[in-house]
Amino acid sequence: MGQVFDAILKRRSIRKYKNQEVSQEKLKKVLEAANWAPSNGNSQPWRFIVTKGEYVDKVCNVFYNWAKDYIPNASYIPEEKVPGMLEYAENFGGAPVHIIVTHEIFEDEIKTKEALMAASAAIQNLCLAAWEEGLGTVWIGGHVIYSEETREILQISESEEIAGIIPIGYPDEDPAPPERKDLAEKIEWLGF
Ligand SMILES: Cc1cc2nc3c(=O)[nH]c(=O)nc-3n(C[C@H](O)[C@H](O)[C@H](O)COP(=O)(O)O)c2cc1C
Repeated sequence: MGQVFDAILKRRSIRKYKNQEVSQEKLKKVLEAANWAPSNGNSQPWRFIVTKGEYVDKVCNVFYNWAKDYIPNASYIPEEKVPGMLEYAENFGGAPVHIIVTHEIFEDEIKTKEALMAASAAIQNLCLAAWEEGLGTVWIGGHVIYSEETREILQISESEEIAGIIPIGYPDEDPAPPERKDLAEKIEWLGF
C-alpha cells in the first residue's frame, strides 16, 4: 500500500490528547502540507491562525457554553454517551494547539463555494500530514465556527469565514475506525 493511501486509511479523528507541547517546527511542517492544497485558479484563498493558551481556552469556552445545553438534549445522542461527550466538549479533549483555517468570501457565490472547497482540501492535507508526524487532529465545524464570539476572539475579518477549527496534539487514544458505507452504493458507473 502506498504511503498516502496508508495515511488516508489510518488517520482518525482524535478526541483525547496528551498534555504535551507541539513544536512550532512540527506545526510549520503540517501547515506546509496544507498550503500545497489545490485551489481554484491557484488562488490559495485560505489563512491559518495558530493558537494556544488563552485563545484555545476562550474558543473552548464558546464551544462548551453551547454544547452543555445541546448535548444532553440531542435526541440522536444515546444517554450513556452524554457524560463522555460533555467531557470532550470542555476542551476538545485537551489539544494544546488549535489551527483555524479560514477562507475568503466573495460577492460571487461560486467563488466563495470554491474558496471553501480549497480550504477543505487544505484541511485534509493538514490532517494527513499531522498523522504522518505522529500528531492527532479533529475537524471541528458546526455552531462554534459561525459564532460571532469565536470570530471576535480570533479577530476574523468580515471578508473571511472559518472552514474548520483543527485541535492538534499528541493523541492519547487510538479509536477504532468508524464504519464507512458500502462504496458500491456510492458509485455510479456511466458509459462503462
Ligand atoms: C466538515 C466536518 C465537520 C466536522 N465537525 C465535527 C465536530 O464538530 N465535532 C467533532 O467531534 N467531529 C467533527 N468532525 C469529524 C467527524 O465526526 C469524523 O471525521 C467522522 O466521524 C469520521 O471519523 P474519522 O475522522 O475518524 O474517520 C467533522 C468532520 C468534517 C469533515
